[in-house]
Amino acid sequence: MVDSYEKISVKVFSSPVNGSDYVAQQIANIIRSKQKLKQNCVLGLATGSTPKSLYAELVRLHREEKLSFKNVITFNLDEYYPIANNALQSYNRCMRTQLFDHIDIDPKNIHIPNGAINKEKIKEHCGQYEKMIEDAGGIDLQILGIGNNGHIGFNEPGSGIYSKTRLITLDNSTRIANAYEFANISQVPRLAITMGISSILKSKKIILMAWGSAKAPVIKKAVEDDDSEHVPASLLQNHDDVTFVVDATAAAELTRNKSPWLTGDCEWTPKMIKRAVVNMSMKLRKPVLSLTNSDYNEYGLSDLLVEKGDAYEINLEAYYMLRDTITGWPGGKPNSVIPGHPERPAPYPKKVVIFSPHPDDDIISMGGTFQRLHDQGHDVHVAYQTSGNIAVTDEFVTRFLDFAVGFEEITGIDTKKSGKILEDARKFLVRKKSNQVDTHAIRSIKGLIRRGEARATCRYVGIKEENIHFQDLPFYETGTIEKKPMSEKDIRPTIELLRQIKPHQVFCAGDFADPHGTHIVCFNVVLEALKRIKKEAAGSLNYEWINDCWLWLYKGAWQEWNIEEIEMAIPMSPDQVLKKRFGIFIHQSQKDMVPFQGSDSREFWQRAEERNATTANLYADLGLTHYAAMEAFVRWHY
Ligand code: F6R
Repeated sequence: MVDSYEKISVKVFSSPVNGSDYVAQQIANIIRSKQKLKQNCVLGLATGSTPKSLYAELVRLHREEKLSFKNVITFNLDEYYPIANNALQSYNRCMRTQLFDHIDIDPKNIHIPNGAINKEKIKEHCGQYEKMIEDAGGIDLQILGIGNNGHIGFNEPGSGIYSKTRLITLDNSTRIANAYEFANISQVPRLAITMGISSILKSKKIILMAWGSAKAPVIKKAVEDDDSEHVPASLLQNHDDVTFVVDATAAAELTRNKSPWLTGDCEWTPKMIKRAVVNMSMKLRKPVLSLTNSDYNEYGLSDLLVEKGDAYEINLEAYYMLRDTITGWPGGKPNSVIPGHPERPAPYPKKVVIFSPHPDDDIISMGGTFQRLHDQGHDVHVAYQTSGNIAVTDEFVTRFLDFAVGFEEITGIDTKKSGKILEDARKFLVRKKSNQVDTHAIRSIKGLIRRGEARATCRYVGIKEENIHFQDLPFYETGTIEKKPMSEKDIRPTIELLRQIKPHQVFCAGDFADPHGTHIVCFNVVLEALKRIKKEAAGSLNYEWINDCWLWLYKGAWQEWNIEEIEMAIPMSPDQVLKKRFGIFIHQSQKDMVPFQGSDSREFWQRAEERNATTANLYADLGLTHYAAMEAFVRWHY
């Protein structure tokens, strides 16, 4: 049955790393089999965030398993235009730093469209590019990523099946999606040179990779809908050797996962019932308790109806499950026995640690819950995992430098040394080129500004000074958008902090959408720390708290859980919404315009309010009480 919905073969992996390892192995197999035949192996390569872990694995295979690239010829899909070959964001440079500089490929065998060529010469350049691919014998294996709008290479929606290598205007959505690589959107080039759809379809074998929930809707369209130029990746349905390699979150919208009851036998666990009923209720725009037997039959849930007998029974079961997620007591309601309550009443008060990847995620994502936990008498600690220093603008830091210099002047303090640091910092900022990495001093000052804002928020909520922890995890401290991978230096201090506090509850940002973003690394650090403590605790009495420590996940500023996944929903009154808004306002360095803002131009307080109101409205649509806003959590069993 699965096949009847999917027109392209899809392999689902538990993580981007596992998926990338699989693709790397496919590449290694082709290279090695061609080596045995003494032939060249022609690879088509992509850039962007998706193939980074693939390239890391290829480099590892070269270093540790002697995979040679001497017989490999590469053609990259695309390049921004115009862009200097050496510019920080050029795909030319990306390929060198991520792959080519670390393997034994002959530089003559590397081909990347030239983003620095004169405009009059582009047509000729594109023609030559196609010819070079042909002369090399065609592409043996083409690696692709996919844009949120369905583009492959930079073939934006509307690109036809016969399109060839050419200059193309980037979609505004692509420029916004890629703005994170640039200091701001205006610096993203408007054009690009890309191989065409027909150039891609000529490859002998194609693998498209996609990670994260942001890609889930377009993966479904490309795989299950009819092929169309509006979703260029769907045109791959016309090739007979294509595989999509995706992680579980990118596969989430496929019918086999989203509505498994439509693709064959399905086990009707309580979770599955909740999911099916909630989906149907939203689709039919009817409250759960109003669904009828014929709704179940028409929506493809006749199986469930047969198993349970009557819509009324199923409706009630789903309704109670939804109702039991709502509580005003995020730390559990003391001295009460409420069956089905998401948290335990005891112990009371609880020790709580909120891990906040950036200095404002605590208030943006769970400000109402944060306040309630404190007001209800729990011992709340906040751990700010990274300094967040790259998200402070130069204008903002200059304002603080002016203050610091002025402060010294009016107070007459003799501060020769700090005066010099401040003066140097000011001079650097005046001369700073776009995208130049900040000096250590400026990064520290930017970090200090964000620390001040986080402290002020904690004061506003009522948190004691000694319960505020600034971790400044080293993986983040690169001064650029590109972060280092998680290391022992991140995990060890987190273990120490947890051991010191011995919390009953830990809150953490559970954003799995962007596999290379700060939030996922921050989550992995906490998870690894908790797991190690638990492992060590086995058989020891000293750490028994860990067996009683629950991990709750919130989503960062960008998304919310699907309503059927939510396990704890904390309602907020209109006054609490306002209080949270003012808490977010404290982060003045993050207002109006921040570097690397990404695809959403709303301010953080707007995103938070809209999201919390949407969650509350969804609960109301399903037929539950209508609150002004709600914050939502999912429990993670580690
Ligand atoms: C880049 C390319 C693009 C990307 C796509 C996804 O060479 O061909 O099609 O694959 O924009 O980008 P990421 O991987 O950054 O999500």
